[in-house]
Formats: sequence, C-alpha cells, structure tokens
Amino acid sequence: MQGETGKRSAWVVAVDGPAGAGKSTVARLVASRLGLLYLDTGAMYRALALKALATGTDVADALRLVELLQEADIHVGEDPNRQLRVWLDGQDVTDAIRRPEVHATVAQVASVPGVRAGMVDRQRALAELGGVVMDGRDIGTYVLPNAPFKFFLTASLEARAARRHRELAARGFSVDPGVLRQEIVARDRMDSTRAVAPLQCAPDAQVIDTTELSVSQVVDQILAVVRGR
Ligand code: DC
Repeated sequence: MQGETGKRSAWVVAVDGPAGAGKSTVARLVASRLGLLYLDTGAMYRALALKALATGTDVADALRLVELLQEADIHVGEDPNRQLRVWLDGQDVTDAIRRPEVHATVAQVASVPGVRAGMVDRQRALAELGGVVMDGRDIGTYVLPNAPFKFFLTASLEARAARRHRELAARGFSVDPGVLRQEIVARDRMDSTRAVAPLQCAPDAQVIDTTELSVSQVVDQILAVVRGR
C-alpha cells in the first residue's frame, strides 16, 4: 500500500492511550484515509492471552507465556472485504479476543517483560515494511520512538466505560457497568505501573481528549496534523 505522498517510510503514526479512549476506531480510519497499514498491537496481546486461556496456561507463569508466544502464529490483517481480522495459529479469533475473560487476563499477560520483547520485535519488523498507523500503549514511547507523528488519546473514565459497555453489548455480552468501570481502573493501573514500557504519554505526542468529540472529529484532527506537515 502506498501512502499519499509516496514516501511510505515517512508515514509512521503512533496512537497511544488507555482502554476505551477510541484508539483502534480512530487509528483504523486514519490508516484507511492515508492508505497505510493499520496495526492494532492490543490485538496481538489479546491473541496471546486467548492462547493461554485455551491451553490452560497459568498466566502467572511468565516463562511459559514467553514460550507460548514463541510457538504462536499471530497475524493481524484485513480480509478481502477490508475488515480487520486476527488469526491465531491459522484460526480466525477476531471475535474471541474480545471476550470478557480475555479482557480480564490480558493486562497480566502484557506485563511480562519477555512477552513484550517478543511482541515489540514483531511490531518493529512490521513498521520497517513502510507506512503504518500503530496503536497501543507504548508505541510512541518505546516501540517506535522516532515516529514523526505521535498522538495520545484520552477520555474520562465515564466515557470510556460507556464505550466498552456499548462495544460488548454489540457483541452480545451483558456486563454490569460498575464492574466494567472497576476493570478499566484495574487495567489502567496495571498498564501504567508495569516495569517495562508502561502506558505513558510521549513528551512529543499531541494529546487529544476524545470525551466530547465524535470519531470523525478526532480523525480529522489527526489528518490535519499529518497532512499539514
Ligand atoms: O487496546 P486493548 O484493550 O486491546 O489492549 C489489550 C491489553 O494489551 C491492554 O491491557 C494493554 C495491553 N497493551 C500493551 O500493553 N501494549 C500495547 N502496545 C498494546 C496493548
């Protein structure tokens, strides 16, 4: 895929922020508007968490999780209809990685340093291929610190919990809003306090509070910055 200017390597856009800030929706649209690859790095951690659950692996066993990643064939891409899909060991796990039990365990899986090292290698290798919009927690600070465009999306806890609730409801899961809020707070804490590459705003990232903004307003803000440079 060719970016608008044709200089693919210059088109690296990092989008970070906490759960429910709107990163994946926005990043996917930005990538599509610019004709770039989109990589949802959270989906990669989710796929590994799913593999751990499916194999009965103890998620407290860091060494086993690293081995599991080495054995895992994780692929994030698009199907012929340009719908985002995630494959684990050849199986389409796009829906399965959004299940509540994956939600509840993924932050612990993502806190293992060896798991992060393996994931970051894979993410950097994909970015080497050319223009990419990558979203996650540590893209601007750690995975791609030289990315020319960095955005940090935030939103109030209420707005983020409400978005998660809608997302899960659309998938047929009914989760108590109070429980969801607590889960988001717990995941924020784990993501922000882990020893390796915690969730942080890069000093050179542009912060966008999405609480009161529509998806298209956020996308337009990002495109204005990227196209304006
Ligand atoms: O964005 P998400 O909810 O799909 O992310 C799933 C989990 O993976 C979340 O707990 C944070 C973690 N994650 C991470 O640590 N680093 C990333 N680059 C992406 C996600």
